Amino acid sequence: MQEPSLSTRDLTIRFGGHTAVNAVTCDFRPGELTVIVGPNGAGKTTYFNMISGQLSPSDGQVLKGGEDITSLSPSARAKKGVGRAFQLTNLFPRLSVIENIRLAVQAQSGDGRRFFKRVEALTELTDMAQHYLRATHLEAKADMQAALLPHGDQRKLEVALLMAMEPDIYMFDEPTAGMSLDHAPDVLNLIAEIKQDTTKTVLLVEHKMDVVRRLADRIIVLHNGELIADGDPGEVMSSQIVKDVYLGNAGEMA
Ligand SMILES: Nc1ncnc2c1ncn2[C@@H]1O[C@H](COP(=O)(O)OP(=O)(O)O)[C@@H](O)[C@H]1O
Ligand SMILES: [Mg+2]
Repeated sequence: MQEPSLSTRDLTIRFGGHTAVNAVTCDFRPGELTVIVGPNGAGKTTYFNMISGQLSPSDGQVLKGGEDITSLSPSARAKKGVGRAFQLTNLFPRLSVIENIRLAVQAQSGDGRRFFKRVEALTELTDMAQHYLRATHLEAKADMQAALLPHGDQRKLEVALLMAMEPDIYMFDEPTAGMSLDHAPDVLNLIAEIKQDTTKTVLLVEHKMDVVRRLADRIIVLHNGELIADGDPGEVMSSQIVKDVYLGNAGEMA
């Protein structure tokens, strides 16, 4: 088995007297897409926030490729390849789609001014931007102002900006939330395409069971901040403990 690309060790956070995430120990590996499920308030987003650095844990560690990154800022973690999709952050609403992607590629390539001095580097920058434009199926919208994109295309652009960072960990927290049924498949297809690259590790919080069935290599279940199940999707979803959580929270899980 491959070495974990990302691990959490006894990861815990308390808000006042409430333990939102409780001693979660888990390894994630390249080529693996893990879906994280659990009722509302289970701690899924809080777990993501501690991995990406938006929240500091009360206890425990986050390891990236074996290195302890628990004390690093979100941007330092992003530089180390921990990539998290955020809605509309890093987006320049008045610039076009392709200009936004170019800026993301440029940011990834280091110092912008030095980079721009070389004509061949400029060509490479454009090529890379075109690559991510194609990868996210936004060619037809290349010159549209980002702010004017339909909702579903904005989500695709967010994925393009994330891809341009070249992370090896991709984190998506309910990427289809608030999307119409006809747009949801687009962003899910992108995630399926990212998953084809077996050097990438994908963490996905998603409620929709058809999505889970289609994309998951593995499911972990959080409940009251604790990891209560972890394994093969079919086995986890048919386990008694998950049925109990589902039945107990049927309305929220739907
Ligand atoms: N910044 C915060 N301050 C206080 N409580 C929080 C904070 N963030 C999350 N919580 C609490 O932590 C628990 C887990 O929330 P969350 O991670 O958002 O759950 P999920 O994403 O699984 O729906 C909830 O009880 C929530 O109210
Ligand atoms: Mg959440």
